[in-house]
Amino acid sequence: MNANLSELLTYMALLILVAGIGLFLIVGRDLAPKSQVLRGGGRWFLGAALGAGAIVLALKLVIILALSQAPQVTVAPLIAHLAHEGMPEGEDKASEDMRLRLGWQALPEKAPAPLDNPLTPEKAALGERLFFDPNLSIDRTVACASCHDVSGKAGADGRATALGIKNQIGPRNAPTVWNAAFQAVQFWDGRASSLEEQAKGPPVNPGEMGMPSLEAVAERVREDESYRDLFIKAFGENTAIDIDTIAKAIASYERTLITPNTPFDRFLHGEDGALSPDQKRGMSLFRTAGCITCHSGPNFSQASLFQPFASDRYLMASRSPLAAKYRLSEDKGKAPQGSLNGIWRIPSLRNVALTAPYFHNGAVGDLKEAVRVMAEAQLNAVIEGGGRTPKPGQKYLTHRDIDDLAAFLTALSSPRLTPRLAHR
Ligand code: HEC
Ligand code: HEC
Repeated sequence: MNANLSELLTYMALLILVAGIGLFLIVGRDLAPKSQVLRGGGRWFLGAALGAGAIVLALKLVIILALSQAPQVTVAPLIAHLAHEGMPEGEDKASEDMRLRLGWQALPEKAPAPLDNPLTPEKAALGERLFFDPNLSIDRTVACASCHDVSGKAGADGRATALGIKNQIGPRNAPTVWNAAFQAVQFWDGRASSLEEQAKGPPVNPGEMGMPSLEAVAERVREDESYRDLFIKAFGENTAIDIDTIAKAIASYERTLITPNTPFDRFLHGEDGALSPDQKRGMSLFRTAGCITCHSGPNFSQASLFQPFASDRYLMASRSPLAAKYRLSEDKGKAPQGSLNGIWRIPSLRNVALTAPYFHNGAVGDLKEAVRVMAEAQLNAVIEGGGRTPKPGQKYLTHRDIDDLAAFLTALSSPRLTPRLAHR
């Protein structure tokens, strides 16, 4: 090191000498006689400035050379020592937790609302009543809450596909309404762009609530005198009771159906013990295996209001035996029928452990199986015990990986919807 240093210093001296001679020639001989500005003091000032520049450049070169030539053996242990200095055993885990929570987002305490429909307690209260009112259906038997059981079934219905008026079985699974307020687009295929727009769908869907028109829905609400006061409280004296105010009230209620402060959120806020070691491993896998490329952001869905531009992803069903087994490629969602792959909005994974069965057709009853389907259909991974061998470079997930991913997903369940989990 010392020999190297004196060698470098010699280089530096030489460099300064050469630069100095060059400067002298330029400033003293060539520049000054032709220039009117560079007389007397100005000439020396320019010379000094250029000289200082040359010296700094030489210094930089020396530092770069010295660092690049310093033997690794002396530097590496020094860095390792610095990293571990003052860190007793237990704190290794704490710093691991700190690294793990980097880059994730907790669910905000409030759902965003559009400018023309700010959230007020009065509107939410009116919306709640409408949500539970079976008079919004043709035979007065089905309310929004029939298919979206807010307290008993975590906002879904527990059925594979929904059950509407006259016991009609619909084509798709009822997703939860909890945290729908954070999604930029609604429905499995994302065809509604707001909760207000979505709320106008089910009442006139012949298989769901079966009303002949949106005006007929408003008429049903107007005929119930007890709504009058609630509308005035929510929208003011001169309000109309029409489908727009009805939809705005329902959407406002849905914006109160949010679940911040799950164990996952508490972990992000610094509570290391909020997640079990298995859940932490699953959380890490969720990122490294690639689930997070689609299920990202605070609502575990790129379709969240925070990233509204990448709302659709292919379900690569055609490649996956599991997706074929569960007929996940029959309905093509947003893609034209006849396409090879369906296009679906990325659903939120919050409370997913409570909203079985899974996927747009509700064909998968078990969370771990849903994780396997995803690993195979979306990540083209090979799963232990699935009878396939991975090709070079292909992802491989063990039984334990699947278990831990599912364990992590249970950390997204709100204690509000699962009294049993309240103390986890
Ligand atoms: C007959 C059962 C049924 C009824 C009644 C019903 N829904 Fe739904 N709901 C569904 C189904 C099924 C879907 C998914 C449909 C699709 O994606 O094509 C859905 C989707 C939704 C979504 C979208 C959630 C998301 O993540 O995309 C919201 C919000 C919603 N419903 C609210 C309501 C409201 C408000 C009412 C009453 C006005 C209502 N639902 C009535 C079955 C029902
Ligand atoms: C390429 C995008 C993409 C990736 C990667 C991805 N998903 Fe999904 N996920 C989706 C889409 C789209 C759906 C809805 C598909 C459908 O219903 O047909 C979905 C649905 C799900 C569901 C069911 C949700 C419900 O309410 O029914 C679970 C659980 C899930 N994903 C977990 C995972 C896990 C765990 C991983 C990583 C192993 C993962 N996903 C990777 C896009 C993705």
